[in-house]
Amino acid sequence: MTDSAGGPDLTKGGGGPQDDTPGGGPLVVVENVNKHFGDLHVLRDINLTVQRGEVVVVIGPSGSGKSTLCRSINRLEPIDSGKILIDGRELPKEGKELARLRSDVGMVFQSFNLFAHKTILENVTLGPVKVRKQDKQASEKHAMELLERVGIANQAHKYPAQLSGGQQQRVAIARSLAMKPKVMLFDEPTSALDPEMINEVLDVMTSLAREGMTMIVVTHEMGFARKAAQKVVFMADGQIVESNTPEEFFTNPQTERAQDFLSKILTH
Ligand SMILES: Nc1ncnc2c1ncn2[C@@H]1O[C@H](COP(=O)(O)OP(=O)(O)OP(=O)(O)O)[C@@H](O)[C@H]1O
Ligand SMILES: [Mg+2]
Repeated sequence: MTDSAGGPDLTKGGGGPQDDTPGGGPLVVVENVNKHFGDLHVLRDINLTVQRGEVVVVIGPSGSGKSTLCRSINRLEPIDSGKILIDGRELPKEGKELARLRSDVGMVFQSFNLFAHKTILENVTLGPVKVRKQDKQASEKHAMELLERVGIANQAHKYPAQLSGGQQQRVAIARSLAMKPKVMLFDEPTSALDPEMINEVLDVMTSLAREGMTMIVVTHEMGFARKAAQKVVFMADGQIVESNTPEEFFTNPQTERAQDFLSKILTH
């Protein structure tokens, strides 16, 4: 189903308005980022660099700041200090430029957040037509290719409630890809799914990774991390405590925090 042969290349921007950015160099740079929620220091001097085509898995205990980091990278959350660069550019704080640059960063959440009263096809074309101001027909053609790619083209005219959770999450991925993002963020994309649906979503993500999409993925799915990621970042208490290859991290965690965390998730 998700064999990458023959499908459209999901990683190419294809001449969208984002093509005027510098190119070369890392795609995401997070530099000395700090963030508080009131007294709570949730991101403590975070530094993270993600190269083009790199897949970084972020893991760590609940409350360690994984979601906040993702949301900050997408500017859904303002940061207190530090810098976040996407393809060499700092995201502006607000305005049109922010909307345009934000669509360079696709995001898929645990909850699929599809528009209930729009069809699957409409859900996927909405962003390109409204935000990217793309031609409706061209957007529909591209949307159908993406739905084909995630294995649900035959459901295009249904409504979200008529689909399974795994299918809805695949639509959410297609919807993000329709904006031709440069980097995709996934925040626990499979943790709301029934076990039998987890793999169909991970398969789509794995082939996306193989095709060269730059990805930051918050997940505890170690099979995915080993198969698809170049780097695992372990967070605890708002800090990046370890950063290593999946192989090294899972077989030889350096810190007690990571050892303790792994022993807990491995026994599940
Ligand atoms: N909007 C908010 N207002 C206040 N505190 C928040 C807010 N969002 C998150 N927090 C707090 O910030 C800390 C980090 O939360 P975050 O959601 O980033 O953790 P997480 O690593 O994603 O956890 P989980 O694995 O449970 O999803 C937690 O202590 C959380 O309670
Ligand atoms: Mg979270």
